[in-house]
Amino acid sequence: MAGILARSARSALRATTQTPRLSFALAKPTTPSQINTHAAPPTRRFLATTAASSEQPRLRLGSEAPNFKAQTTQGEIDFHTWLDGSWAILFSHPADFTPVCTTELGAFAKLAPDFERRGVKMIGLSANDVSSHGRWIADIDEVSNTTLKFPIIADADRKVAFLYDMVDQQDLSNIDEKGIAFTIRSVFVIDPARKIRLTMMYPASTGRNTAEVLRVIDSLQTGDKKGVTTPIDWQVGDDVIVPPSVSTADAKKKFGEVREVKPYLRYTKI
Ligand code: BEZ
Repeated sequence: MAGILARSARSALRATTQTPRLSFALAKPTTPSQINTHAAPPTRRFLATTAASSEQPRLRLGSEAPNFKAQTTQGEIDFHTWLDGSWAILFSHPADFTPVCTTELGAFAKLAPDFERRGVKMIGLSANDVSSHGRWIADIDEVSNTTLKFPIIADADRKVAFLYDMVDQQDLSNIDEKGIAFTIRSVFVIDPARKIRLTMMYPASTGRNTAEVLRVIDSLQTGDKKGVTTPIDWQVGDDVIVPPSVSTADAKKKFGEVREVKPYLRYTKI
């Protein structure tokens, strides 16, 4: 499925945009298992790309969001400087002028006030250059009747996509004649200490759910402020959970009423 979608998106891309060739030189694979000796030349070129990605940092919840410099639709940025001690979401797209991505960016653009209210900066990424992004934003604004105001990273060479492991295993081996892999739909929520607090990865075939992105931000920010956790499908205003590390006596002092369903499952209101 991903392969079919990726192939059709590649055809669409060729018709609408110029996708530059991979422009960064990377280390050769180091182990025999990483080298497909029967591969056609473009595949070998691509495998060299994946070998370099094996040096990427492991991105776990709590890891520092790796820094990078990149061109964006609002000029060159140093990512850590751009974060500037704020909450942020970094979200990626496979390519400009693709249908699902167009709907997603329109939706994120419309929700900019909701992210701003939560103190969350937004930055998108797509694997094309700035001039392509500029033309695509005009389409997004027209289709979704919005004005997209946040920057979109130009990641035509997939440097940031590989740094953040925003790539699909199938696409790693299912490459086009340019020897490049598509970027998947990833979301990283980053906190003011630059720690990765949430990751989501969606296949190219499935658009994300903006309400869920806002919901987890609400949960993270509530948890940080109040020292509570949130149950399944929690929404702002619902009861929260007293974490196991807090005794019921302490929870009562802190929150007032505590509803004990099981000794380990205790709800309270905030
Ligand atoms: C899209 O519709 O956005 C899309 C679909 C397949 C591959 C890349 C993008």
